[in-house]
Amino acid sequence: MKFTRFVIAFAAASTMLAFAASSAIAQQPIIIKFSHVVAVDTPKGKAADYFKKLAEERTKGKVRVEVYPNSQLFKDGEEMEAVQLGSVQMLAPSLAKFGPLGVREFEVFDLPYIFDNYEDLHKVTEGAVGKGLLKKLEGKGLIGLAYWDNGFKVMSANKAIRVPADYKGLKMRIQSSKVLGDEMKALNAIPQVMAFSEVYQGLQTGVVDGTENPPSNFYTQKMQEVQKYLALTDHGYLGYAVIVNKKFWDGLPPDVRTQLEGAKNDATKFANDIAKKQKDHALEAVRKSGKTEIITLTPDQKAAMKKALVTVHKENESRVGKDTIAEVYKETGFKP
Ligand code: LMR
Repeated sequence: MKFTRFVIAFAAASTMLAFAASSAIAQQPIIIKFSHVVAVDTPKGKAADYFKKLAEERTKGKVRVEVYPNSQLFKDGEEMEAVQLGSVQMLAPSLAKFGPLGVREFEVFDLPYIFDNYEDLHKVTEGAVGKGLLKKLEGKGLIGLAYWDNGFKVMSANKAIRVPADYKGLKMRIQSSKVLGDEMKALNAIPQVMAFSEVYQGLQTGVVDGTENPPSNFYTQKMQEVQKYLALTDHGYLGYAVIVNKKFWDGLPPDVRTQLEGAKNDATKFANDIAKKQKDHALEAVRKSGKTEIITLTPDQKAAMKKALVTVHKENESRVGKDTIAEVYKETGFKP
């Protein structure tokens, strides 16, 4: 009798334990690892944190977003593979970094002077070309969720750079985009692809002489400590595609996916709203540092830069796609 009671008690305890374990499993949050290479205090860094906040609030804790900034988890050259393999679920690489993945059309965004301002750019990101490019990522096991702005790039070096001749022979760090390589070659500079996490040291040790980036990246990477001149060239755009592992995204419960889509839409609006403010703030901080001279180009100097750099468009027709370039020209009104 005693033994029977023991067996019943044991069975009941086991059932309770199993139930507790299974409900613990049921309550395990879905983890989204979101890796990026820039500082927290940048448009992308802030938008990633905002997405985390909204996603966790709206899914009432069903989803936990872990944001890893500053190349903490993966750096350029590693992160694309990591998201394809599912080691991280989300990234927002710059549009200049999709070539090595085999989607070279994204380099249309790197073509110098193709966008005069954010309005022109948004016509493309929100129009047929932008949507079509994101769709292409599905063949790579990814879903393109949105475009996030950073902004227009400046050039920097340790000598005053105003006109194309000033760039001759300078080793210039670029992202992994052939269009950007051709851009530097058009200035008779020597392009050097380098991971973002290595740029500060590259500039400090003289492995490279200069670089290009929007001001928020320049300032948050402390490039003012290692670059004496920054030229306000606005010669090209740098922005991001927010991407997610397709298998992960398709496997989410539909209600969670809808909530995450809403969070992503609001984070996109947030990113694009703060981009310009972040740029103004960064430039002001660089100016205040007193370490880097900010050069404003005269209209003639700007025209000379443009003349030298737009040659890159034609050169890259076969890489980026003649039709893609033509469609962007149509949407922005750009005249070659
Ligand atoms: C760069 O490598 O310069 C940028 O892509 C960094 C970034 O993500 O803004």
